[in-house]
Amino acid sequence: LRLHGALHREGPVGIISHRGAAALAPENTLSAMRVAIDQGVDFIETDVQLTADGVPILMHDFTLDRTTSGSGRVADHTLEQVKRLDAGGWFAPAYTWEPVPTLVEFVDLLGGAPTRALVELKGVWAPEQIASVVDLLRERQLVHRVALQSFDVHTLRMLQQIGPEFARVLLTREWDEPTVRLAGELQVSAVGARTKLYDERPELLDRLRAVGIGSLVYTLNSEKRWRAAVERGVDLVVTDDPVSLAEWRGPA
Ligand code: G3P
Repeated sequence: LRLHGALHREGPVGIISHRGAAALAPENTLSAMRVAIDQGVDFIETDVQLTADGVPILMHDFTLDRTTSGSGRVADHTLEQVKRLDAGGWFAPAYTWEPVPTLVEFVDLLGGAPTRALVELKGVWAPEQIASVVDLLRERQLVHRVALQSFDVHTLRMLQQIGPEFARVLLTREWDEPTVRLAGELQVSAVGARTKLYDERPELLDRLRAVGIGSLVYTLNSEKRWRAAVERGVDLVVTDDPVSLAEWRGPA
C-alpha cells in the first residue's frame, strides 16, 4: 500500500499516539507530546480548535470542562483566558498547572524531533482559518511531516484547494460505497473510522486499498483489538497507550 505524503510508510502496522499519549499523560498537553516523541511513535495525533481571538490551540472537546480547570465553550475564551487554566491536574497531581498548548508551541516541539503528526481540525473551518494553519506548517517546513484530518467534508474540500501538498485523512462515521467514492474524490491518503464500521463492511477496505488509499482505526487500547485490526489489514492504529502497542508490535 502507498500512503503518500506525510502518511507514507511501509512495514508493520503504524502507531498513532492519540491526543499525545492520552493514557500516559494529560491529553493534548506538551507533556503528552513528549511521551509520544520519546517513545518514537510513527505519528502523534492531536486536535486543533480556535480560541475566541483566533489562536489555534490543542484541545479535543468543544468545552473546557473535562480537561481543564475552566468551563464553557472553547470558542468563547481568548488565548489569555485559556492560558490561565490548569489542563493537567485532572489527570494526576504531578501535572497540575500544565498549560493548554498553542499549535505554535506544538510545532516548536515537533520541529526538533523526527516524529510525524496527524492533526485534526475540529469542527468546521473557514478558508482563512485553514490558510493560517497551512501557512504555519509551510513556514516550519512540516509539509512532509504533518497530515491533516477532519470529519467535515467541506473543511477537507477547502484544504484540498488551500494546502494540496498536505496529506489528508477523511474521518468518517459512515462506511458505505459513497464514503469510498468520497475518499477518492477528496484525494485523501487515508480514511479513519471505528473498528465496528470496518467489521460491518470489510470488503470496502479492499476497495480503498485498490485505489491506493489507506486506513486507520481509532481508538484501540487492548491486544485483542490491535490483533483484530492487523488481521483486518488496517494500516495505522490510533491508541492512547503507544508504549504497550509498540511492545506488542515490535520494531517498525
Ligand atoms: O485519529 C482519529 C481519532 O482521533 C478521532 O477521534 O474522538 O479523538 O477526535 P477523536
